[in-house]
Amino acid sequence: MNGRMDGKVAVVTGGASGIGRACAERLAQEGADIVIADLQDERGQEAAGAVKALGRRANFVRTDTSEGADCEALADAAVREFGKIDVLVAAAGISHALYESGGEPRAPQASREDSYLINKPAEYWEKVLNVNLTGVMLTDCAVARKMIDVGNGGSIINIASGAAKIPIPGAADYCVSKAGVWMLTKTLALELAAHGIRVNAIGPGFIETPMTESMRSDETRVQQLLAGIPMGRLGQPQDIANTALFLASDESSYFTGEILFPDGGLFTG
Ligand SMILES: NC(=O)c1ccc[n+]([C@@H]2O[C@H](COP(=O)([O-])OP(=O)(O)OC[C@H]3O[C@@H](n4cnc5c(N)ncnc54)[C@H](O)[C@@H]3O)[C@@H](O)[C@H]2O)c1
Repeated sequence: MNGRMDGKVAVVTGGASGIGRACAERLAQEGADIVIADLQDERGQEAAGAVKALGRRANFVRTDTSEGADCEALADAAVREFGKIDVLVAAAGISHALYESGGEPRAPQASREDSYLINKPAEYWEKVLNVNLTGVMLTDCAVARKMIDVGNGGSIINIASGAAKIPIPGAADYCVSKAGVWMLTKTLALELAAHGIRVNAIGPGFIETPMTESMRSDETRVQQLLAGIPMGRLGQPQDIANTALFLASDESSYFTGEILFPDGGLFTG
């Protein structure tokens, strides 16, 4: 089916890579114009180019979503360029404090216990919470204010994680940030429902993106992981993009405050 997003404008944070980029392209394939927001200029421009190649309008706005002023400037730029925002996919995120998307994989830690909370610098915790939770809140609010001004409602989709419900030793900061995104989604859904703005979240399983690259380079870990995924395969960015398309489109018009877990059964039970 094509044209499910005809006439719509979508802002996608983290749109330069992985899940965000796949969401941007999927929404564009269905007719949306796209604003890509990301920290990374070159990859962001490239993603905007890919959307244009699909025949849609696109621009890139360099944004650090953990900075309120950047999020306001992003929302302003989107409305200036395209007149409104119908959809936000908030996908910008990091897996740990030192993660750089598309960068050199980090050397493995000497032991897993090194990454336990009792051994982690407090700044690492703050960094992950700032980007993954505060950044999503700042982006959601900046975009929601524009949606309210325009008065057409809208759909906000926050990318959480299966880690929002399953604790992972060594990743307490990440798990807490994603559990926070889940609760943020539910609370904002109630606050924004009267404006016709729906707020939902996606909790992906293990998806093949730069974020999981270092883990995927270890064949033993991949086999262990696959053994825990009932559907027997890793997820693709497209799996998440299709879920985002559903939540962005009118097909999900009675959904708000929900989280969907496309994870091949990994976090079920
Ligand atoms: N890959 C997975 O298995 C998986 C699973 C569950 C949830 N997620 C979540 O999906 C989202 C996307 O991750 P991905 O796997 O596509 O990784 P990715 O590294 O491919 O993409 C993340 C993007 O976010 C951008 N970004 C990071 N910090 C930013 C900031 N402060 N401001 C603006 N942009 C910023 C990066 O530059 C990058 O383009 C993240 O929120 C991640 O936590 C991923």
